[in-house]
Amino acid sequence: MARIIDGRKIAESVHQETASRVEALKQRGILPKLLFTRVGEDPASKVYVGMKERMSARLGILSETVVLPDETTEAELLKKIAGWNCDEEIHGILVQAPLPSHIRESVIFSNVSPEKDVDGFHPVNVGKLVLGDPTGFVPCTPGGVIELLKAENITTKGADAVVLGRGAIVGKPMTALLSQKGPTGNATVTLCHSLTSNIEERCRQADIIIAAMGVAEFVRGSMIKSGATVIDVGVNRIADASAKSGSRLVGDVAFQEALEVAGAITPNPGGVGPMTIAMLMRNTVLAAERLTA
Ligand code: GUN
Repeated sequence: MARIIDGRKIAESVHQETASRVEALKQRGILPKLLFTRVGEDPASKVYVGMKERMSARLGILSETVVLPDETTEAELLKKIAGWNCDEEIHGILVQAPLPSHIRESVIFSNVSPEKDVDGFHPVNVGKLVLGDPTGFVPCTPGGVIELLKAENITTKGADAVVLGRGAIVGKPMTALLSQKGPTGNATVTLCHSLTSNIEERCRQADIIIAAMGVAEFVRGSMIKSGATVIDVGVNRIADASAKSGSRLVGDVAFQEALEVAGAITPNPGGVGPMTIAMLMRNTVLAAERLTA
């Protein structure tokens, strides 16, 4: 029976440290501020931005949310971003994905000032991450997974890790972090995706599985080595006639089955999600510290 990794508790200890750094900034007369923007009315984005706003307020970080209509053009959004980039009161900028299909996310992310890119999506920050240069920003979700592993004393050195999913937000940076030289890296990483052969077999050999491909309950108990660590990043909405809303959220891991075999496992919710927010708050304070040093 696996140990359940309490993401809420670990996030709380990150928040404690962040709150004291906010206090230190305030002593110097600096009010850290995070700018959120979302385009259109994507229901999940509304929920996520709302949670991030509430956590900012709790930690004493100022926030402002700019909601733009669905028909906003790429040029209009770029103009807004250019204004926020030069606004000295704003230390972090977060453009919530997904954006409407007529706006190219890569163009938007590469026009947020790298110094205010608390998401770590700007090509300069992606490059620094891959090179192991600590002066950039680490993307929040993979950064949060590393913090979970560290807090749980899960050895990455020499471990065989399988990352499921090659997305720019989680899979790719996760692979870079786990394989990096250093105390939270030094793993041998296999990045699996939709065209990978023998995924089940590769998973069965892994000491650490990071599931981030967005397929509901893809990782079954039979795919997990006894005692392995299983981190579930997935958030998938599936139909459920017995639920009031007609649907419910599940992860990329079949939790009950995995629980029987794994050594440690994240619950979902209450695992990776709280860590993503904790890392965003920490990155915002880091941005404010760097911009006012
Ligand atoms: N959409 C899903 N995850 C994220 C994230 O970490 N940052 C932003 N900006 N959008 C997202």
